[in-house]
Amino acid sequence: MKKIAILYWGKGGNVEKAAKVIFNQFDPQTTDLFALDSINTNSLTGYKLVILGGSTVGAENWEETTNDNRWNHFFREIENKDFSGVTFAVFGLGNQVLYPANFVDALGIFHEAISKTGARIIGAWPTVGYKFTDSDGLQKDSFYGLALDEDTQPDLTLERSKQWTDILKKEMKF
Ligand SMILES: Cc1cc2nc3c(=O)[nH]c(=O)nc-3n(C[C@H](O)[C@H](O)[C@H](O)COP(=O)(O)O)c2cc1C
Repeated sequence: MKKIAILYWGKGGNVEKAAKVIFNQFDPQTTDLFALDSINTNSLTGYKLVILGGSTVGAENWEETTNDNRWNHFFREIENKDFSGVTFAVFGLGNQVLYPANFVDALGIFHEAISKTGARIIGAWPTVGYKFTDSDGLQKDSFYGLALDEDTQPDLTLERSKQWTDILKKEMKF
């Protein structure tokens, strides 16, 4: 059993690209990378660290437009499992120029859904270096997890991912 699982959705775009960048910061011997459609949620409780990544598409009407999306399905599935030995962290893709009032909102949705399982969540990330007006992904002065903007700041993705995964490794004592 490996130590770290990175789960992302959707496929073929910026989220998958970022998930691979994040995966590459860890030892492949101890890390698994899954698209959400290829994960058996029963196996998740065996990991030490589970990293979830997705994008924000649909602004404030996530519930409406994506009620039956794969993330909601996933969160319903994991709600009643025992994640007491598992730590979670989240990353989110967004576009701060086109959606400054809803930048990486999904981080907040992820955080709330994971909180319901009672699992520990790490990986808060400072808002320095981004320009936006509001986000549901905010917890006081930090994001709930790593915010990435491949649309308008693609050059920063690698460095941000390195710094963020260093924080996770330190926190997890990996
Ligand atoms: C219809 C649509 C709605 C979007 N809404 C938001 C939004 O509310 N907030 C945000 O930060 N980004 C928003 N974005 C930007 C995406 O999150 C961003 O382009 C992301 O990198 C897409 O990831 P993907 O290529 O894996 O789909 C939106 C993009 C689209 C196409």
